[in-house]
Amino acid sequence: MRECLPQDLHIIHGIIEDAAAMYQGFVPHDCLHQPYMPLEELEREMTRMTFFGWEEGGLVGIMGFQPVTDVTLIRHAYVRRAWQRRGIGSRLLNHLKDLCTTERLLVGTWASAFWAINFYQKHGFHLLANKDELLAAYWEVPRRQVESSVVLGISLVPHQ
Ligand SMILES: CC(C)(COP(=O)(O)OP(=O)(O)OC[C@H]1O[C@@H](n2cnc3c(N)ncnc32)[C@H](O)[C@@H]1OP(=O)(O)O)[C@@H](O)C(=O)NCCC(=O)NCCS
Repeated sequence: MRECLPQDLHIIHGIIEDAAAMYQGFVPHDCLHQPYMPLEELEREMTRMTFFGWEEGGLVGIMGFQPVTDVTLIRHAYVRRAWQRRGIGSRLLNHLKDLCTTERLLVGTWASAFWAINFYQKHGFHLLANKDELLAAYWEVPRRQVESSVVLGISLVPHQ
């Protein structure tokens, strides 16, 4: 496990594009672009949050950590398809839980990404009913994405 650096941009981009291939056939097609995340957008996102990565002879999974006012967001959680279901996502998530100093840790994902919802629920997260309000307060996402997304959250005991 390590904190990612600006020079990891291309390898992180490769992980996102590989893992986001899972969205085909699940996420509304008008929300899917090629590439899923343009490199420039990822570059911007990397200045806004801290990414952590898991190495197996090179980075194979990443997760972004973004405190926003009174909550912390998990952003851009991706593990290369060939490395999924081996506990890498769980290690990254547990690391972010340990780092979190706000009471609530939130994550937004596609409503149709049952595997991701499964993954977070397994880690104690609950689907939140006021997701539109939360997405408007803490994220910057287009309206169409809001309609097709869910928000899950977990309450943690603040460290300080
Ligand atoms: C979500 C993700 C990061 C989890 O990473 P991971 O390394 O596979 O996670 P772990 O191995 O620690 O946990 C596996 C658990 O996640 C869930 N899960 C992962 N892949 C799954 C799949 N294809 N189908 C159903 N559940 C799945 C299950 O609960 C699974 O537990 P199980 O294997 O005992 O059934 C990874 O699946 C991924 O990159 N998905 C594509 C992108 C995505 O949806 N990201 C979430 C955006 S917020």
